[in-house]
Amino acid sequence: MNNVIVVASGKGGTGKSTVCICLSVALVNQGKKVLLIDCDCGMRGLDIMLDMEQNILFDASDAVCGNCSAAEAVYQSKNNENLCLMAAPFEVENELSPAVFKQLVDSLKDDYDFVIIDAPAGIGSGLVTAAAPADKALIVVNAEPTSVRGGVRLRKKLLNIGVDELRLIINRFDRKVFEKLGFYSDLDEVIEAVQTQLIALIPYDIRLSVIMQRGVAGLNWSAVSSIFDCLAYRLSGKRVPLAFKG
Ligand SMILES: Nc1ncnc2c1ncn2[C@@H]1O[C@H](COP(=O)(O)OP(=O)(O)O)[C@@H](O)[C@H]1O
Ligand SMILES: [Mg+2]
Repeated sequence: MNNVIVVASGKGGTGKSTVCICLSVALVNQGKKVLLIDCDCGMRGLDIMLDMEQNILFDASDAVCGNCSAAEAVYQSKNNENLCLMAAPFEVENELSPAVFKQLVDSLKDDYDFVIIDAPAGIGSGLVTAAAPADKALIVVNAEPTSVRGGVRLRKKLLNIGVDELRLIINRFDRKVFEKLGFYSDLDEVIEAVQTQLIALIPYDIRLSVIMQRGVAGLNWSAVSSIFDCLAYRLSGKRVPLAFKG
């Protein structure tokens, strides 16, 4: 199994957590078993987004400290038994070291087809921990200069720590806004700046924001779900064209 994927970005708010959830749901809908790990220590949110906030008793740091077993810190989604979540420590002081986190993920990963890790923003210690067990990384950017620069710096950091299978996701894309702002002449310029192969282009879709705050039960309302289906196929090794070309 080399399907441990860290979802990261230089700048915050690019849509990492949204990508993690929508991608995981798409993979589960394709018959895969997925462990989603929130690694945004002190700022976790996937439990709310999955409507599992009330279920979580133990988090990743409890599993490491021996307050529970690793399996006991994994919670099944009530909507789908093949979608499981491990929550990030609530307190930032409980951030795990890269070696300890890798060991924890390695002990769990064989029970799943995919492990998706939601990294904190930035290229600091939290990212290094989140990326430690990863076979590959998805770099999430928005098509604007600060976000793209974050992507460039993140790519360098990931290569530096030995994660070299990288793909780019451009999220919250709106052609009209993109052209009006005029920062880039086309999307190729964004892709060239980050020097990373594009695996998905995701449109700005206000419905996604609403759904994410309410839990993903209604994910199929959104036209965006077909884009995540395509991303999930691509990560499973199927050659399918981009679902949205902007
Ligand atoms: N494709 C999209 N279209 C519209 N809103 C989006 C999209 N992706 C993310 N968002 C919204 O952007 C905000 C930040 O997303 P989030 O996934 O929390 O980012 P991050 O985890 O990178 O901080 C949230 O309000 C989310 O609902
Ligand atoms: Mg997040």
